[in-house]
Amino acid sequence: MIDEQTPDWVQLDSAIGADELNGNPFAGRDLLRLCDLTPGEFHAVLSTARANKALWKADAAAAQRQAPYQGRAIGVILEKPSLRTRVSFELAAARLGAHPVVMSDTNSAFSRGESLKDTTMVMERFVSAIVIRSFAQARIEEIARWASVPVINALTDDFHPCQGLADFLTMYERKGDLSKLKLAYVGDGNNMAHTYLEGGALCGMEVHIATPDGYRPQEQYVKQAQALAAQTGAKLVVGTDPAAALEGADVVITDTWASMGAEAEHDERVNAFVPYRVSAASFDLAAPGAIFLHCLPAHRGEEVTDEVMDAPYSAIYDEAENRLHAQQALLMLVLGNIA
Ligand code: CP
Ligand code: NVA
Repeated sequence: MIDEQTPDWVQLDSAIGADELNGNPFAGRDLLRLCDLTPGEFHAVLSTARANKALWKADAAAAQRQAPYQGRAIGVILEKPSLRTRVSFELAAARLGAHPVVMSDTNSAFSRGESLKDTTMVMERFVSAIVIRSFAQARIEEIARWASVPVINALTDDFHPCQGLADFLTMYERKGDLSKLKLAYVGDGNNMAHTYLEGGALCGMEVHIATPDGYRPQEQYVKQAQALAAQTGAKLVVGTDPAAALEGADVVITDTWASMGAEAEHDERVNAFVPYRVSAASFDLAAPGAIFLHCLPAHRGEEVTDEVMDAPYSAIYDEAENRLHAQQALLMLVLGNIA
């Protein structure tokens, strides 16, 4: 349970500054995928997010006065399009008193062919953390090797850990104890599928991933998540049968059939993916009280019907809002000790 593991620094009822956050276990750390966290750390970030969210809902003006990182800057580099990630990171930085420097156009940051080393070494002279949305996971791993400031993955082809934090926070808010839930993800074995495998493994959850045969999650990531699950008691099932995955699920999730960078494959994918569409009929297989999540943007009528997107059990807009709370917590923690 998240609340039972609430760490000391989450007690934000008195003024909190960088001094209180210095030396916290996350200070200076990267988040390139959820498995960079231990199970306890994963719960601690979610607890911090819950506490921050409650504080800001109760009295935003008082919360803003506590902004611990005045005078710092956060670099946000977006090599793919974004709505939620950009807005939530800009706002999260501002809430902490830091200035977000967003580079999303084709004439900035890494777009000129400057080496990853030079770009990163220059960036870190200006910013206290680098948030980056990019393509290959290896690219952000190299950036993280060069950077002495924290590097946060804002989506790669392989993982979307910030979305994962928001999603598991939403599941906890709606359904309680994460270790007692069954999550069903039906669709493409993509960055979100990998992220749910890792998040589910971290919190001891039962996670079922159902994809068309040619679109399974990458074997190396499944194996790594399985190794973690063996330690936490999580159960991870990867297969091709959407009905088996959805049967009795407490949380039903899907995502686009063609992710950013794979749009050209869309038409050839559709036939294989139609049986994985989440409709009111397929949702009926889930447990009573089940919720629906989608990281968005959704393609209404394709991977999910309007009826499901707009149903009372759909938590998609809470999920989107929780990007802010999760990332604010993450930034607050990793910026400790960073000048
Ligand atoms: N879910 C998500 O990351 O949304 P954006 O692509 O709009 O940032
Ligand atoms: N799997 C999707 C997620 C978008 C937030 C993509 O990578 O495009």
